[in-house]
Amino acid sequence: MSNRKMITAALPYANGPVHIGHLAGVYIPADVYARFQRRLGKDVAFICGSDEHGIPITIRAKKEGVTPQDIVDKYHEVIKKSFSDLGISFDEYSRTTSKNHYETSQDFFKVLHEKGKFTEEVSEQYFDEQAGEFLADRYIVGTCPNCGNENAYGDQCEKCGSTLSPSELINPKSMLSGNIPILKETKNWYLPLNDYEDFLNEWIIEGHKDDWKPNVYGQVKSWLNDGLKPRAMTRDLNWGVPVPLPDAEGKVLYVWFDAPIGYISFTKEWAEKNGKNWKDYWQNENSDLVHFIGKDNIVFHCIIFPAMMKAHGDYIMPKNVPAFEFLNLENDKISTSRNWAVWAHEYIEDFPGQQDVLRYALLSSAPETKDNNFTWKDFQTKNNSELVGIFGNFINRVAVLIHKYYDGIIPQGDVNAPELKEINKSAKEISGFLENYEFRNSLTALMNLARFGNQYLQTEEPWKTIKDNPEKAAQSLFVGAQIAVALAQLCEPFMPFSSEKLLNMLNVNKTDWSTIETKSVLIETGHKINEASLLFSKIEDDVIEAQIQKLENTKQNNKKTNPNANPMKEEITFDDFTKIDLRTATIVEAEKVEKADKLLKLTVDTGVDVRTVVSGIAESFTPEEVVGKQVMILLNLAPRKIRGIESQGMLLLTTKPDGKLSFVTPDDNNVENGIEIG
Ligand code: MF3
Ligand code: ZN
Repeated sequence: MSNRKMITAALPYANGPVHIGHLAGVYIPADVYARFQRRLGKDVAFICGSDEHGIPITIRAKKEGVTPQDIVDKYHEVIKKSFSDLGISFDEYSRTTSKNHYETSQDFFKVLHEKGKFTEEVSEQYFDEQAGEFLADRYIVGTCPNCGNENAYGDQCEKCGSTLSPSELINPKSMLSGNIPILKETKNWYLPLNDYEDFLNEWIIEGHKDDWKPNVYGQVKSWLNDGLKPRAMTRDLNWGVPVPLPDAEGKVLYVWFDAPIGYISFTKEWAEKNGKNWKDYWQNENSDLVHFIGKDNIVFHCIIFPAMMKAHGDYIMPKNVPAFEFLNLENDKISTSRNWAVWAHEYIEDFPGQQDVLRYALLSSAPETKDNNFTWKDFQTKNNSELVGIFGNFINRVAVLIHKYYDGIIPQGDVNAPELKEINKSAKEISGFLENYEFRNSLTALMNLARFGNQYLQTEEPWKTIKDNPEKAAQSLFVGAQIAVALAQLCEPFMPFSSEKLLNMLNVNKTDWSTIETKSVLIETGHKINEASLLFSKIEDDVIEAQIQKLENTKQNNKKTNPNANPMKEEITFDDFTKIDLRTATIVEAEKVEKADKLLKLTVDTGVDVRTVVSGIAESFTPEEVVGKQVMILLNLAPRKIRGIESQGMLLLTTKPDGKLSFVTPDDNNVENGIEIG
């Protein structure tokens, strides 16, 4: 086994914030793994950064009416902060718009070009003559040949789910100008993936049958069975890394060419700052390269990027590519466009100081082998029954009792007590699972040690034995303290914030993992611990209800035909409604209210009487305009004084898209005054 671990986590697109699906399926497991490897004493580089090129970015920019640079500047910061708030311990979090990344990815391209690894192919691509741009598949809409949906994209129909190519669309239209695009010839550089089939078959299909996850292995196998084709590594686009060749004006590197090279660029940036040599991590067989990704990224990390590195010649191949399945939210697919997600930055705001609870909940439902589901109820149960009820409860009992009986000093105990073996066993179990990328099992093993500790105290009952058998009580709490220290050490990869708190409470330093796997005494008799404090706290029903309500609002919002419409107000009864006295009326006089820009003083004939109404319509109408208008009035509104004038009733108004007001009037404007409306 190698001493060096080059760990990467998929570069998130900087086109939106990160949500729990990203966290559960990539970043939290990757962080647990990296922290664990550091505790083993490995030389770890844990590298990530924002993926700032590609169509997802330009689409978002168009939608928001800003430049792609604005989009990536904004979301890079949001994403970076979320990761750091959640304790994701990247050694480097950079971005693909950095100068160093441009150079690194262009150099990589040049090496492949000089070695003759690309083929040049001319193809016909859709071109928008008015915009003067070639169109990415996503920028072409037309009718789906499979289901007739008129708004299918050039790469996919979202109605029937079929994968398309732009030439299959019926009546294609450019999303840039709405015009019909023309087909125009263009030259691009292709990587003939078919040339790497033998290599990939031998390396993965024969070499990693037993140690790669079945979902990853299976997907690669099916790609290879279908046969690989040359794939374009450049695009006709104006957002991306320019192709570093003289005859490549207006062309950029394909985002899936430049993004994975980001792992390398960012390692360089980190190495430079830390006096390391990046090649030790990427170009030396004594380094384990491990990519953490979601399942939609498998082909890029197991086929395309390895083929690129093979073509280059100087790089090692990944040791493993632990890819995760997807996480659903309340039994529905997480979706950025439908806002169906729990956003990391919102969680941090809503649950300050409770980062570990999210880490714990997401790890325990990590979609390791199949899609999994997150529910708020489940989240609450995990916190209240497991973190508070088991882990926190055990720690609290140990710390409080040691303070109560021994002034916070670890009592005398038998260092050969059989229960202490449980600690070493747990540590080995956890590391066995983590080496195997079995995060849920490793978390269960951790919790089992806390459970064991709890049960041990429950049977030992030191709070009883302290009276008639103080030696036994001391023994129980000596063992309890050892388990507490073990938990403090072992929980660090999973719950780093709580680990730190607990280590402080017990007044011990972080140790190597091997210590916990082998030593029987982790905290000596006579050692003084610090004051006890609660590690976790109960999450109440109303807090969970508020989160569920937030999702319910999202559901309601998604039903709106007008996105600007406010949600419905609280329901009223028919009796409530009959209390309202609405009538037709006519404005007979109007004048400005002095020193009030918005107000007109109106005299209104309501059929019942002639009265004064002060109305905030002066910015939409002149007094002359409104005289003679037939309107609707809320007649039985209690009078109130506005600018010293008593206003009796309220006229019904609505707002036009330009912000100006308009009267609600009877459809036929020859209705008598004083007619009831209802
Ligand atoms: N941005 C891509 C996604 O979110 C992942 C890029 S991973 C890298 O799906 F390897 F290309 F960096
Ligand atoms: Zn379709």
